[in-house]
Amino acid sequence: MSTALQRQAAARARAHDAPMPGLFGPLNPPFAGYRGRRVWVIGASYGIGAAIARDLLGRGARVALSARKEALLRAVAGGHGDALVAPLDVTDVASVHAAAKVVERAWGGFDLALVVAGTHIEMRAHLGMTVGGRDVELDAAHWNLARARQLLEVNLHGVLNCVDAILPVLTRQGSGGIGIVSSVAGYVGLPRSLIYGASKAALINFTESLYGDLRPQGIGVYLINPGFVDTPLTQKNRFAMPALMRAEDAARVTLDEIAAGAFEVHYPKRFTRWLKLLRMLPYRLQLAAVRRATGA
Ligand SMILES: NC(=O)c1ccc[n+]([C@@H]2O[C@H](COP(=O)([O-])OP(=O)(O)OC[C@H]3O[C@@H](n4cnc5c(N)ncnc54)[C@H](OP(=O)(O)O)[C@@H]3O)[C@@H](O)[C@H]2O)c1
Repeated sequence: MSTALQRQAAARARAHDAPMPGLFGPLNPPFAGYRGRRVWVIGASYGIGAAIARDLLGRGARVALSARKEALLRAVAGGHGDALVAPLDVTDVASVHAAAKVVERAWGGFDLALVVAGTHIEMRAHLGMTVGGRDVELDAAHWNLARARQLLEVNLHGVLNCVDAILPVLTRQGSGGIGIVSSVAGYVGLPRSLIYGASKAALINFTESLYGDLRPQGIGVYLINPGFVDTPLTQKNRFAMPALMRAEDAARVTLDEIAAGAFEVHYPKRFTRWLKLLRMLPYRLQLAAVRRATGA
């Protein structure tokens, strides 16, 4: 039997051993603190991922930092002895696998991988206009197929590329966890979020399925759904963002709730709970409420 098949058989055997959560209690195995834990943060050069990486280093974890901009990753690592910089582009699967090898060679595996990398492009189903061969923006967020595909390349296919590198390590270990950052924009269709929201809805569904497959193998799966967080991504927004959070607070809540064994980490609760309620409404009420709340 090949080694890969042996590993799969061992994982399946372990699946029967891993105690599954009951009606109460955390959906993932809780763990006591991050000290000495090996955490790979993908999307750690700025924004929420950088705040998570800094927080982890402060909590005594060993942290591998990945994203495209190596100089920024090094600045976040700040020369810390427990930090490891492994640049990658999530849209380039070979670079993701190469970074995973760097992390594995240094640490022999990892306890948690957090896929934070993502991008945002506003888009509406409004048509632009071409004048003299040039694309004229009637609405800053008009429909553009090339930009839609670009966004999916990072937010959806990029995450799948990361999972392709993370999964073999976790499966071989039969322990550890993976967290995927989606967004509350994936709960319901929101204006200007035509493609961003779709990419995040896909990630929510994907992570739910991932939980069903990996949790029985003793592997933790975490779905992270932030509301509005003050980062370079949201600093481009031209509207008032309700319940805007600091990236440092988002990082703290994310790490605390993962350590407590949550499946879904969402914040700030005073905003996300309303959106959860909205998601449960019949479409007639939900669509009207979105229109009323956003004025779009
Ligand atoms: N901020 C919010 O309000 C908010 C709300 C809900 C969900 N989110 C989600 O949270 C995540 C982080 O958001 P943020 O606000 O921190 O965004 P951000 O400030 O724009 O940071 C994005 C991070 O992703 C990395 N990244 C982007 N494209 C990449 C690529 N092709 N390959 C590798 N890394 C890439 C960036 O690094 P490089 O440029 O160096 O590659 C950076 O580290 C995203 O998935 C976002 O959708 C954010």
